[in-house]
Amino acid sequence: MKPYSVLVACQLPEAVERDLASALDVDFMPDARQRPVAELVARLDGRDALLLLAMTPADAALIEALPASVKAIATYSVGLDHIDLAAARKRGIAVLHTPDVLTDAVAETALLLLLGAARRATESIDLVRSGAWQGWTPTQLIGVELSGKTLGILGMGRIGRGIAERARAFGMTICYHNRSALPPDLAKGAVHHADAVEFLGAIDALAIACPLTEATRGFLDAERIAAMKPGAIVVNIARGPVIDDDALIAALQSGHVRAAGLDVFTNEPKLDPRYLNLGNAFLLPHIGSSTVESRRAMGRTLIDGFAALAAGRNPDNRVV
Ligand code: DGY
Repeated sequence: MKPYSVLVACQLPEAVERDLASALDVDFMPDARQRPVAELVARLDGRDALLLLAMTPADAALIEALPASVKAIATYSVGLDHIDLAAARKRGIAVLHTPDVLTDAVAETALLLLLGAARRATESIDLVRSGAWQGWTPTQLIGVELSGKTLGILGMGRIGRGIAERARAFGMTICYHNRSALPPDLAKGAVHHADAVEFLGAIDALAIACPLTEATRGFLDAERIAAMKPGAIVVNIARGPVIDDDALIAALQSGHVRAAGLDVFTNEPKLDPRYLNLGNAFLLPHIGSSTVESRRAMGRTLIDGFAALAAGRNPDNRVV
């Protein structure tokens, strides 16, 4: 069987590039994002698939321009908001992504953000690094505990459930907001709230773990933040645009939101600069899935998907 012929339009960790090169017929174009789209399209002529990152939009214009040889688009991400799935479907192009294998890494990052926000990590790190720390006092940098609090999860998919599992170990009670309630074996006692305002009023911390869609874009706006308890925490490991930055920044400035832990931002890497002046914002540079384990496994998931397509089977990681 002829291996799938793939244009890798991004730079990946060396080990992943080696794995790809040993399983597929690959052409690497690490600077694809800086090159004109026409060049990318020309390089794809005769190839079976395009592999890209979440930072590279595969919009309808690009998908329509793809050469007839292209049968699949694979994204080295679980998120799919950068791909026009309807346009891919219309052209009969399969779309693959990397679910499951990064769930643990991203769920761990959510806990890092929750803890960092609750325990004032930004101010603590700044104090030590500035050399201004005067030694232990009972009044310095008093945070709050997760134990005994209620965590609300927006989007109780694989990652949301991974966050829930870890948060339970910290003594938190879990509730969630999804369009529909999960079966009991998946909910594991987490309480479903169909109404967003009721959900937000019931929780001490919010973890955003939903995909970015037209329904979730701008979900956390001023009105919904006002519905949260004073002193609540907000954590986002999903996509920046789920949060209305003006609303969250105002709430962090007033203290209505005690602290935020954010790994993702609107317009990355040019996040709203006002976050940088907020001691109660614990900020990470989109490292949710950045572990040795998940990076390698993400590559293998795509390789398996290509192998299935080449053999005429339907890959588990296919969304279109
Ligand atoms: C994902 O997998 O969606 C991560 O956010 C990286 O894009």
